[in-house]
Amino acid sequence: MEELLKPIVAEIFDQNDWGQPAQYIPELAGIDPKQFAVSVCLADGRTVSAGSASKPFSIQSISKVFSLMLALGRVGDQLWSRVGREPSGTSFDSVVLLEKERGRPRNPFINAGAIVTTDALLSGREPRTALAEILTLVKDMSGSEDIYINESVAASEQETGSRNMALAYYLKSHGNLSCTPEQTLGTYYHQCAIEMTTEQLAMAGRSLAGFDGAPKIISHEHIRRVNALMMTCGHYDGSGDFAFRVGLPGKSGVGGGILIIAPNVASIAIWSPGLNHYGNSNAGTRAAEMLSRATDWSVF
Ligand code: DON
Repeated sequence: MEELLKPIVAEIFDQNDWGQPAQYIPELAGIDPKQFAVSVCLADGRTVSAGSASKPFSIQSISKVFSLMLALGRVGDQLWSRVGREPSGTSFDSVVLLEKERGRPRNPFINAGAIVTTDALLSGREPRTALAEILTLVKDMSGSEDIYINESVAASEQETGSRNMALAYYLKSHGNLSCTPEQTLGTYYHQCAIEMTTEQLAMAGRSLAGFDGAPKIISHEHIRRVNALMMTCGHYDGSGDFAFRVGLPGKSGVGGGILIIAPNVASIAIWSPGLNHYGNSNAGTRAAEMLSRATDWSVF
């Protein structure tokens, strides 16, 4: 595996097409895009990394995988009455389908769907309790206590998040938000502002890869469903392109991270903060494509 990763890292640093960090979140906008990390956890317990694999980055939308797992464990199939499971073909923060589909977001990974999922986790709980549950889940899954929320990133989104506020009010107007938009978004921004290294994130993915010995968080059936959603919706309107190029379930975040699952074989975390036009890591997607080609780890 070390030998496999070396040429991938070399090729990533050999090109000059890094993309641009998320500009709409001021705290992330100024990050140097020329950074890269990859970690691979294998079923036999080994973890192999290359690049800045111990450097924490903002997991952003990758947190939606963890909140979905918690929500499925808590409310089970009831969640699907509030959020769908179809790819949207629109950008992660799009509002267009919400009106047409009367406030039921297409899937739990677009922002509107993740806001509903977080709202489902919140009902009857204080925001700080729900957040602590998400953070505890992430720590348990990665086997690391050294994971924190970056308050400046959360505040930065809160200040500039008019689009998410619009989505939350729209959901509320359709009766699909039980808390106030402010409460739900406050929790959502904080879960997005969790920082992890690729080493920690790859470790966290072991439960979704179905490894023996990984923390058992949700049922086998739910694991299959989360992976299916990652495959079909995990990269928003770039999900088809990711499936075509990589052939594995993946979830991206605008911090530049990608969590990729090769069921029963590997859990992979990649980070490079420059984004492509879908808002997914540019170099990260290329590295994922190279890795899946080199290993033949496609589900197809
Ligand atoms: O709500 C937002 O816009 C961000 N906190 C998360 C979006 C995101 O990561 C999209 N992923 N590529």
